[in-house]
Amino acid sequence: MKPSIAFVAGARPNFMKIAPVLRAADETKAPFTPVIVHTGQHYSREMSDVMFEQLEIRPPDVHLEAGSGTHGQQTAKILAAFEEFLMEISPRLAAVMVVGDVNSTIAAALAASKLHIPVVHLEAGLRSFDRGMPEEINRIATDAISDLLLVSEPAGEKNLRKEGVPDQRIRYVGNVMIDTLVRHLTDGRAANPMVDGQPFALLTLHRPSNVDCPETLTRIVEFLLEVADQIRLIFPAHPRTQLRLQETGLLERLSSHPAIQVLQPLGYVDNLELMRAAAFVITDSGGIQEETSYMSVPCLTLRENTERPVTLTHGTNTLVGLDFQKARTAICEIRSGNYKRSLPIPGWDGRAAYRVVEALSDLVKSAHAV
Ligand code: UD1
Repeated sequence: MKPSIAFVAGARPNFMKIAPVLRAADETKAPFTPVIVHTGQHYSREMSDVMFEQLEIRPPDVHLEAGSGTHGQQTAKILAAFEEFLMEISPRLAAVMVVGDVNSTIAAALAASKLHIPVVHLEAGLRSFDRGMPEEINRIATDAISDLLLVSEPAGEKNLRKEGVPDQRIRYVGNVMIDTLVRHLTDGRAANPMVDGQPFALLTLHRPSNVDCPETLTRIVEFLLEVADQIRLIFPAHPRTQLRLQETGLLERLSSHPAIQVLQPLGYVDNLELMRAAAFVITDSGGIQEETSYMSVPCLTLRENTERPVTLTHGTNTLVGLDFQKARTAICEIRSGNYKRSLPIPGWDGRAAYRVVEALSDLVKSAHAV
């Protein structure tokens, strides 16, 4: 019997990262069996089920049903439930693969490492150097206890080396999210009626630092109303953001602007089609900085820093933070055709998942050889 590796995913940005690896493992008849563990961090249909359907991921083998809560509560629920699962299964897993930087990532890594099960971190080494971001704590802590660090962009390798991680634990595999993007760009399924040839900008917003403070959210909304005076704005709103906009009465202001369409969160394919067709994207997401860079769609990021600096040097990303003058200048450049275009990035080639499977296969083989 082949050894098993748990693929842990829990929140929306995790699903597009495990999908291509599952497919590559299947296609190449990898020497391990993936076990899909859904932590339940995201549970709404739009945030989870739709992603599984559109990304063609088979249903999870295990569902931990952790749900929402404070950081401590959510992390603790996943940690306890995943530990119980790990202790129950026999024979034990050959490894646990965690992805990205969400609470599910650190919780699962911690449970596995305490049970001496090798931990693989996919998308390791990214650093925003801003410990005010919960994801930065998750990244640092996960990398510190992972046995194999799979890196998606050049800065990741540099950061890990600086932190003293030995070379043999680091492997540059490239970006699996781009594998998913490439697959769906070419599968011909994307056809969104909102893409009608009229120019529009796409907006996503969900970082606690942008949406949880009413003053900050008000400033952002005022800027967005100004943008919508120039160009149609399509805004699929994350559940956290919808809640904050309702609490502050700002949802009413946004939705009453004739050029703003506030929508429920979109599935992967619809969102991709909007991103591809947008004149530009305004976002605070990590993944969208990468996806727009790959497609050479201008991206204005409402953050002061990024853990994905290659999107600034080789991509179409500009960090505008809350400096709306900077954003206005960038929008002028975009609309006059003078905005930067992207350059190729190593390992963002649609084949990263095969390199991940190779790394996981080597890990399994080396464990057998001991
Ligand atoms: C989480 C990740 C963030 C990632 C984002 C993508 C952490 C620390 N943060 O943030 O890195 O960019 O996911 O979405 O892990 N809710 C629903 N339905 C759901 C899930 C959540 O309505 O399926 C609501 C709940 O009110 C919940 C809130 O959204 O309290 C926030 O969800 P949570 O998982 O805590 O964090 P995100 O903001 O989604």
